[in-house]
Amino acid sequence: MIKPEPDLALVVREIAEEMQARSDRGDVAGYIPELARVDPNAFGMVVIAADGQIAAGGDSEQPFSIQSVSKVFTLTLALGKVGDRLWRRVGREPSGTAFNSIVQLERENGVPRNPFINAGALAVTDVILSGHQPREALGEILRFMRFLADDVSIVIDEGVAGSEQRTGFRNAALANYMRSFGVIENPVDFTLGVYFHHCAIAMSCRQLAMAGRFLAHGGRNPETGHNVVTPERARRINALMLTCGHYDGSGEFAYRVGLPGKSGVGGGILAVAPGKASIAVWSPGLDASGNSHLGRIALEALTRRMGWSIF
Ligand code: DON
Repeated sequence: MIKPEPDLALVVREIAEEMQARSDRGDVAGYIPELARVDPNAFGMVVIAADGQIAAGGDSEQPFSIQSVSKVFTLTLALGKVGDRLWRRVGREPSGTAFNSIVQLERENGVPRNPFINAGALAVTDVILSGHQPREALGEILRFMRFLADDVSIVIDEGVAGSEQRTGFRNAALANYMRSFGVIENPVDFTLGVYFHHCAIAMSCRQLAMAGRFLAHGGRNPETGHNVVTPERARRINALMLTCGHYDGSGEFAYRVGLPGKSGVGGGILAVAPGKASIAVWSPGLDASGNSHLGRIALEALTRRMGWSIF
C-alpha cells in the first residue's frame, strides 16, 4: 500500500501547538538589551511548498529581529558583486567556535573561517559597502529583502540597531582586528553601522520563508520566475548553511534536522528543503550555541514527519 503524503498544513499547525505548550523554551539573547525584552513564549512557523502552498502556525505574522539570518542574504549580495573574489576575504570552513569568537583570527591572518560567524559577516558587509555610503549599502540590502519577499513593508527596527550599536563592543573588536590585517577596508564604524542595521531587519516567518524560496528552488523564485542566482550558487550557499549556519551547533543541527539552515539570536531560523520548501521558524529562547531551542526542535519534527531530511 502506498503511504499517503502527510498533510503539510496539519503537520505545521500540530507542531506549532506542540511547541507553544512546551515549558523548555531556552533563554532570550541577553547581550542585546532590546532583544532581552522579547516574550519567550512566542512561536511561529511558516512553510512555503514548491507549488506555492503556504502552511502557517502560531505567531507566523509577527515581525521579529532576523539578526544573523540576514547573513544569508548579505552573502548572496556580496557574491553577486565580486563573485569568487569574496573567498580571498573569508573562508568556507566550519569554525567550531562561538558566533562571536575572536580566537581564530590571530592564527589565520585576520581571515574569518566562514561568512556566517560575526567576523565573516562583517567582512561580507564590508564588501557590499565598498565605495558606497553606509546609507546606500543598507538601502541595497533592504531593497533586496523586499524584492525577495515580494513585500515593501519590511523595515529595520531602529531600536534594535541602536541598542546593538551602543553595546556591540565585541563586534567592534572583531572589525578593528580585521582592519589591522586589511580584511576590512572601509572605516570600521561604517562597516559596523551597516552590519548592526542589517541584523536589525524585522520580518515575520511568512516574509522570511518567502525570501528564502530561491534557495529551495535552484536559485529561482518559482512564483515570479525570477532567477536570483544560478543553480550552482544556490547549491553552494545551501552547503555553507548546512556546514556553518548554526556555528558550533551546525553538526547537531545537521544530525537532528538534516537541512541547510541559518539561525539568528532573535530566535529565527531559515531552513531550506531543496526542491520541496522554504521554511521559517521563530522562537526567541536560545540554546547554549545561541540558536533557537524550540526552532530546532520544531524543524526536527517537521523533517521527520514530512520525510524531508536531505540525507
Ligand atoms: O552581531 C551579533 O552579535 C548579532 N547582531 C547577530 C548574532 C547572531 O544572530 C548569532 N546567531 N545566532
